Amino acid sequence: MQAFILAGGKGTRLRPLTVYTPKPIVPLVNRPFMLYQIDALKRASVKEITLSLSYQPDKIAEVLGTGSEFGAALTFITEPSPLGTAGAYRFATAGNRETAVVLNGDVLTNVDLAKVIEFHRTTGSEATIVLAPVEDPTAYGLVESDADGSVLAFREKPTADEAALLETKNINAGIYILEPSVLDLIPENEIRSFEYDVFPELLRQGRAFNAFVMKDEYWRDIGNPQSYLAAHHDFLAGKVPGFEIVRGSDHEQATTAFVDKASVIGEGCHIKPNCRIINSVLGPGVHVEEKAVVENSVIWSNSRVSAFSTVEGSIVGRSCYIGKNAVVTSGSVLGDKTSLTDYTRV
Ligand code: GDD
Ligand code: MG
Repeated sequence: MQAFILAGGKGTRLRPLTVYTPKPIVPLVNRPFMLYQIDALKRASVKEITLSLSYQPDKIAEVLGTGSEFGAALTFITEPSPLGTAGAYRFATAGNRETAVVLNGDVLTNVDLAKVIEFHRTTGSEATIVLAPVEDPTAYGLVESDADGSVLAFREKPTADEAALLETKNINAGIYILEPSVLDLIPENEIRSFEYDVFPELLRQGRAFNAFVMKDEYWRDIGNPQSYLAAHHDFLAGKVPGFEIVRGSDHEQATTAFVDKASVIGEGCHIKPNCRIINSVLGPGVHVEEKAVVENSVIWSNSRVSAFSTVEGSIVGRSCYIGKNAVVTSGSVLGDKTSLTDYTRV
């Protein structure tokens, strides 16, 4: 079975982080995000993976290569212009018709895909959609299903009122198993969406469309800064079982520096005397100078946090410079190469 990862979006909600780094390769605990999806697919013995790209495809291909390094065989397909989620899938299949696993390229989950594939086979579905329960479904596709698993209604980005009418909090987790017959609902080289076109059409036609509902599995869309940061905190708190944290061993740390057990320090970092790093992830080559404090934050590679400055609850892009005595307050997101003058408060 082949997998298709839809990874062509511009990542607008994750800006400024995605200005120079497309969403599929933003680092999550110092690994390109896509590797977590590749790991999950490999666990289900799906190793042939096609990435459907549109935004900055060359950067993604450069970081992931052929995939052999990660035990997968990757193919990259770039649309001439964005075709929407379903149009992109049809384009990426390039005429091949076989059962496929399709993933949104920004969901982090430890759901057992082998179990989902097995469910798809035993229910004899044409399409299986994985659902995850969330508190506020308005940012997602809300999906109603019955006790047997049949999908009854699909409403993309419902208003709060619409969400209240559908008595469920289960949303589309962005994971589908599709039979090739679903391709017949997607005209070639036209813009089509699974969410607005294909799923409603499956329901109108009464086709075998079933839901696999997650229970205790972890699920999160990392497509906005709050969620991206929260995914890091979940990892550091051990709430994402099934994925290992890769801790670089090669960094310099002063004996008087305090780094808590949860934090992850990248290769080649310099941690100077009397600074404090708490519940944070530092990318490779980050410098944290004397008496600086980094707490509940994510700092990308080669950035510098100067002496006496504080970074709290924030995301700092690549090669940034935080001046001395600066304060970066909770919720800040600094794009690559941001430079903050000494004493700046943001
Ligand atoms: N190749 C390609 N071409 N990929 C695309 C395109 C396109 O035209 N449009 C979107 N994608 C990719 C994005 O890169 C992303 O990985 C995935 O498709 C979903 O797009 P998002 O823009 O992240 O959608 P969303 O988060 O608002 O909503 C979707 O995901 C939710 C779960 O996270 C929907 O599928 C919702 O129903 C779902 O609940
Ligand atoms: Mg998304």
